[in-house]
Amino acid sequence: MVERILVVGAGAMGSQIGMVAALAGIDTTVQDVSAEQLPRAEAQLRDRLAGQVAKGRRTQEDVDAAFARLRFTTELETAAAAADYVIEAAIERIDIKRELFARLGAAAPAHAILATNSSTIPSSELADASGRADRVCNLHFFMPPLVMRAVEVVRGPETSDATVATTTALAERLGKTPVVLNREIPGFVANRLLWAIREEALRMYGDGIASYQDIDAAAREALGHPMGPFELMDLVGNDVAYRNKIAVYEQTGDEAELPHPALVALYEKGDYGRKTGKGWYDYDSR
Ligand code: 3HC
Repeated sequence: MVERILVVGAGAMGSQIGMVAALAGIDTTVQDVSAEQLPRAEAQLRDRLAGQVAKGRRTQEDVDAAFARLRFTTELETAAAAADYVIEAAIERIDIKRELFARLGAAAPAHAILATNSSTIPSSELADASGRADRVCNLHFFMPPLVMRAVEVVRGPETSDATVATTTALAERLGKTPVVLNREIPGFVANRLLWAIREEALRMYGDGIASYQDIDAAAREALGHPMGPFELMDLVGNDVAYRNKIAVYEQTGDEAELPHPALVALYEKGDYGRKTGKGWYDYDSR
């Protein structure tokens, strides 16, 4: 039974994953190396949850109880020592994740499972660093984690049946639909579907077939998608979209996987989307 969760990384993903766990009644700590990021993450969550209370989606009591179960810290080892389950949602860089898995493997109790929210780095590339390869897997959430109902549970070659079972049960307790992958594949299932659309959208825009606004309109108004592919890149982050493609290129060596030049241009300008106030579209900076 998972009683205490540690989420590593207080970015948009990590902080919302922490809130999802706290709302499900689980004592949760969100850790980040940046002391400045923690109050920012908490303020964004308070804003978001206040909106849900105002809309009558949740009661103030439930939200207060969730915040009482949610702690923020910069201390990785102390938080890991108290955790039954760790969800790593740090930056998408293998060197950083391997170092984190080594530190988590040394500090967490022996029974604790170490999951990574990585969308592109399979847990098998982190497992040996942790010293507990059977208790490692990917548990991949979607943006925004407070809203999207599926999570992917990806079994690595050494992941045990018990780890998959505990992770699937935890996903259900968090109110999510687990999609279980029996083996690792670059991008997993949902992103592979998403990328097929995104790459076609970027190609049509790059070839001057239509504006990105009109391509977004086609996805929304002709296909009933909640957002078009360019709006979605701004939501997830153009930095994340860029790094995802680089990671797949590095895994496959296939130059067709390199990010589209238009995406590279936004990435190099730092126009990451909603989080920077500008991406394909302009947003009010928060
Ligand atoms: N964070 C948290 N909650 C958010 C949010 C955000 N950034 N944006 C919107 N929401 C919540 C709102 O609070 C609202 O909640 P409520 O229904 O309880 O009141 C709900 O979402 C609906 O919001 P809005 O009415 O303001 O706007 P929309 O109806 O347009 O919905 C959306 C926004 C949920 C983001 C919707 O457009 C959507 O589903 N878009 C597609 C998202 C998607 O495809 N995600 C997967 C991305 S791939 C990924 O994450 C993989 C990774 O590896 C990169």
